[in-house]
Amino acid sequence: MEGIVIREMSCNDLPEVIAIENRCYSTPWTANSFRYELANERAILKVAVLHDRIVGYVCIRTILDETHLLNISVMPEFRRTGIASMLMFNILQVLRQLNPSTKLVLEVRESNAAAAGLYKKFGFHVTGRRKGYYKKPDEDAIVMELDMGADMP
Ligand SMILES: CC(C)(COP(=O)(O)OP(=O)(O)OC[C@H]1O[C@@H](n2cnc3c(N)ncnc32)[C@H](O)[C@@H]1OP(=O)(O)O)[C@@H](O)C(=O)NCCC(=O)NCCS
Repeated sequence: MEGIVIREMSCNDLPEVIAIENRCYSTPWTANSFRYELANERAILKVAVLHDRIVGYVCIRTILDETHLLNISVMPEFRRTGIASMLMFNILQVLRQLNPSTKLVLEVRESNAAAAGLYKKFGFHVTGRRKGYYKKPDEDAIVMELDMGADMP
């Protein structure tokens, strides 16, 4: 989509971010969840902005030799326009520079075809399943991984 700018998230963005978060998940992150990540030097949080309005965001955090994709969300009205792809592309570029040999790991609800499609598009592959990982409703998580060294297109 034309006009999207990707920039670092700050605490000032939280009201807009939380409003999107609450529309995306049955168990949304709280403002404190975002503040915790914003204060963590191993975490990177970015927002996608369109005409001064936040329309999506992403959060990753590196733990030892793995980086976890903790959150990627796009405002419902702006989905399927490439915003999550832009966020993912941006975060992969940053990771490639900071930590080219890391693995990017994530969990996704088994029924979340949109997210699974996004991750497959970026080269993630399924490595496992966590039984009953999610609540509201109870559901397994599919674990996916992207090996930055080997899997990148
Ligand atoms: C998953 C999510 C972030 C995708 O955001 P998006 O901006 O719509 O994604 P994009 O437009 O960049 O789409 C990228 C690819 O993802 C896949 N995809 C996205 N939405 C899809 C859908 N509804 N059905 C199937 N595949 C889909 C497609 O492969 C798409 O590529 P294509 O458009 O070339 O076919 C968005 O649906 C969302 O915010 N969902 C709620 C939050 C969530 O579930 N986050 C992930 C938690 S693990």
